[in-house]
Order: sequence, then structure tokens, then C-alpha cells
Amino acid sequence: MPKLQRHDYYDTARDMNWPFTYVPEEEAFPEALSKSFGIASEKWWGWDEPYKLTYREYVHNQAGKDAGIYSIRSTIARSNMYDKLDEGWKSAVKAHYGAIPVPEYLASIGEARMARFGRAAAWRNMASFGTLDECRHGQAQIYFPYCLTDKDPQMDWAHKTVHTNEWAAIAARSLFDDMFTANDAVSTAIQLTFTFETGFTNLQFLGMSADALHVGDIEFGALISSIQTDEARHSQQGEPTLKIMVENGRAKEAQKLVDQMFWRSWRIFGLLTGFSMDYYTPLEQGGIERRPSARSRRALAAPGRKGGARHRRGAVARAGRRQRRGDRGPHPRRAGRFHRVLRSLSAEPAAPRRRSHPEDRP
Ligand SMILES: [Fe+2]
Ligand SMILES: [Fe+2]
Repeated sequence: MPKLQRHDYYDTARDMNWPFTYVPEEEAFPEALSKSFGIASEKWWGWDEPYKLTYREYVHNQAGKDAGIYSIRSTIARSNMYDKLDEGWKSAVKAHYGAIPVPEYLASIGEARMARFGRAAAWRNMASFGTLDECRHGQAQIYFPYCLTDKDPQMDWAHKTVHTNEWAAIAARSLFDDMFTANDAVSTAIQLTFTFETGFTNLQFLGMSADALHVGDIEFGALISSIQTDEARHSQQGEPTLKIMVENGRAKEAQKLVDQMFWRSWRIFGLLTGFSMDYYTPLEQGGIERRPSARSRRALAAPGRKGGARHRRGAVARAGRRQRRGDRGPHPRRAGRFHRVLRSLSAEPAAPRRRSHPEDRP
């Protein structure tokens, strides 16, 4: 077991910046790949990520989350849960798988570029975790639909879509190339992590995992909420980058980067999420229905039995309440239980307490 506690080594390991003497700055950080926006290198060294993480914690967290989602996948594979899903919902899931897994993998190129050409050591440290995140997201979101191809051959489009010249695939490739596969490190932090991930995908993934649970697609809900917790962490690379640009008189350039990518992302999300929300997501299907208990059924069938009337009144009142709610959705108490299970599987486990670490002090 390592003897050092996190707070004993964290700052020395994450923040190692020094002026170069053997190579010029432009050679180590070429403008085409890194782009300083004319801000001196020492100014970038103040880059401070809001979410602190060590490699040991990262591996521990990810191993736990992967074990959770893959065990849900193998449990549900033995059920007929997928067959019972609404066709509209299945189409929404196929649209998601067609558009997202391969670009997730491509996002690891953008993260890797920040891990090498980000202009501060703390930033490069965070981007290294982001690179691993995006590889894992690509792999998990290819594996899950692959397991469904025997039930639905269209699931093959999870891998195929981005490799075709369908017009939507061309539009998505153009957006993602400009945003992260062919972008410099500073613009990637502002356009990918701040604009796209904080502004779009985080919201999308939260909404989709809630919808998936609502319609009974537990497998998809678990996958998406697991990914969302990673996105919530590495999307925070944008804010400190933006802060340094604003503090050094580059607010106008930063605003332009945000505006460009906001409106281009808006168009793509209109295609993916717009269709899913307007046409595909079923309004009425409740995948997790509450069946009356054996005792309720007995009480309703034999009202004369001892205790039956009281129990019947309770069962009838509950049925009435469900009817008044106007839905056949999951019973709130049962839905709460599923949410708790999924939260425990997908949430980033709490970091070890580190009372003496400076980050803990107000
Ligand atoms: Fe991702
Ligand atoms: Fe991401």
C-alpha cells in the first residue's frame, strides 16, 4: 500500500511548470497545436482545475463504474426487457448510438492534444484523465449496441454511421473535426469542454438517462449516467482556460470561439435531440409498472376476510391516486429505489477525506 496520503504529494505532482532552456517555447508548444493567443507562458501556469483527482483515485473510480454497468448489461441480456421497449424509444437509442460512440472515441484525440499541448501542467494532468474517459466512453457505447445486434441489426449503425457519407454523418464529422480532431489545445478547451460538454452533452446525458429509466430501459440509463459523471469532471477544463483568456484581455477572442461552436452544436442537437424529443420518446409507456401485491389481490378478491376491507380501501385509494396522476409510469417509491441503485453504480465514489489539504479550506 502506498504510504503517502493524497495531500502529501498532490500539488507537487500535478503542477510542474518551468521555463525551457534547451528548446524555444514555440518548438515545445507550436502555435498550430497549442495557440497561446499572445498570452505569456507564465500567465498560463496559474491554470487551476476545480476538480482535483489523482491517478489512483481515477483508476479506483472507473473500475467500480465499469463493473457496475457491465454487470447490469449481462443481467439484462438474459431478460426480454429490450423487446418490450416502445419502438419510438428504440429509434431514439439507435439515433444516439449512431451519432455518439465514434465521436466519443475521436474526442480522445482532442483530450490527448490538450494532455500534450495544454499550456499548464495541471491542465495536462486533467486532460490525461479526459483521454482515458473518452476511450472508455467510445468502447462502452460500441459494446452495448453490439450486444443488441442479434435482436436488432440496425444497432450496427453505432459503428457504421460516422463512416458513411449520409448527410447527417457529414455534418457531424465536419463539426467534430473543427471542434476537436483538428483544433488547437486552447480552442479545444473552450469549444469542446466549455461550450459543447458543459452546454450540451451534460444536459443531454442527464435528460436521456432519466428518460431511459422512465421508459424502462435500465441498461441504457445506467450506461449514460455512468458516462455523464466523467463528462461533468473533464468538462471543467474549459472554465479555467476561459478565465485566463479573460484576465489577459482576450475576452473577445474567447467569446467568438464560444459563439461559433454554440450555434453549430445547436444545429446538430436539433437533428439528434430534436427528433428524439418531438417524435420518438414515448409519453405514456411506463416500463416499471407496479403490480398489486399478492395480499392486495387476495383482499380485492375476498372482501369478507379479516383485515380485507381495510387493506382493500388502501389498495383502491392507491390505485385511484395512480389513475389521477394520469400515468402508468413507475410507482414513485419503486422508481426511487431504482434511482438509488443506479446512482450507487454510476456516481463517482467520494474522494478520500483530506482535511489538511489547502483545497478544503474556504
Ligand atoms: Fe465522453
Ligand atoms: Fe467528454
